[in-house]
Amino acid sequence: MKNIEIAGSGYAVPGRCITNHDLEKTVDTSDEWITARTGISTRYVSETENTVSLGCRAAVNAIANAGITPADIDLIIVATMTGDNLTPSTACLIQEKLGINSRHVMAFDINAACSGFIYAMHIASAMLGQYRCALVIGAETLSKIIDWTDRNTCVLFGDGAGAVIMRPGEKSHMAFYADSAGDSSGTLQATGPLLHPALENCQRTFGYLHMDGKEVFRFAVKAIEDSIHHVLEGTGVTPEEIDLIIPHQANIRIISYVARKMGLPMEKFFINLDTFGNTSAASIAIAFAQAQQQGLIRPGMKIVLVGFGAGFTNGAVYIRM
Ligand code: ACO
Repeated sequence: MKNIEIAGSGYAVPGRCITNHDLEKTVDTSDEWITARTGISTRYVSETENTVSLGCRAAVNAIANAGITPADIDLIIVATMTGDNLTPSTACLIQEKLGINSRHVMAFDINAACSGFIYAMHIASAMLGQYRCALVIGAETLSKIIDWTDRNTCVLFGDGAGAVIMRPGEKSHMAFYADSAGDSSGTLQATGPLLHPALENCQRTFGYLHMDGKEVFRFAVKAIEDSIHHVLEGTGVTPEEIDLIIPHQANIRIISYVARKMGLPMEKFFINLDTFGNTSAASIAIAFAQAQQQGLIRPGMKIVLVGFGAGFTNGAVYIRM
């Protein structure tokens, strides 16, 4: 286990809230179907903000919550699959907006889809020591890769960003677990614009997010349970002793299935997908910040963050606060 603390957290969502009833007007769906099958009631969708600005707003809130200044930060990692540019990275553009001009800052993006925030925390933990203070962000504008005429996907996702400040600290301990399994079958994918022009039949178009919901469901429930067990290995802590589990906010049925299977009460699981939908790499970061704001995270508590997503990827972070 590593002596690392979360010094602060924050989140940001765009201004426009889309309800299930709003979606009834644009696709063949109903509030009843969406609520019963997913648990989602509303999601926030960007009209004017990009991934950089959402990530930056979450970062500003996390910095204020930690009581530090941007100048204290020397490592910035952004988990996203919807960065605004291929380059510069989202992290570098957030660095600029925050006015972090020191020459000894490392800033970069990573993509592990909905597990991205877990991966980014894991990477930050390995780099802290050499670096003093990490700003770890999960930020997405998924609305730009959603086909808003496809009822199978458009009801599920939202935009947003969350951030934490991580730094070495004796008070709390963390353990990390990550896993990936390459899968090019198209079960969960959004194809990119960068096929090489020399390739035959190359198309310079990108595809909307496509998902085989049932396959993803099967993967997700196993990934959550496996990740929780693996991250607790060597900690001496059992799943029953965990005070709060903050899972990737994809679908209430995935979470309640896992709770039943593991024999854990639903009250242990923090849920905000009803409000925000699935915000991919941002979801766990937003949920952590919101749980902290609500006073649900207190010193001495044992917490697990757990994610799963395209790739396939999955992973977890154990935190003894
Ligand atoms: N409104 C009304 N009907 C719908 C909708 C909708 N929004 N979407 C699909 N349907 C229809 C389908 O077309 C299908 O109709 P048919 O029987 O006439 O063909 C019917 O509902 C049943 O469809 P299923 O796909 O079998 O529905 P299911 O019960 O599996 O629920 C869901 C679909 C909610 C997507 C489910 O499979 C699921 O939760 N999967 C996990 C998906 C997920 O969480 N993905 C994100 C995680 S990974 C990541 O975060 C990137």
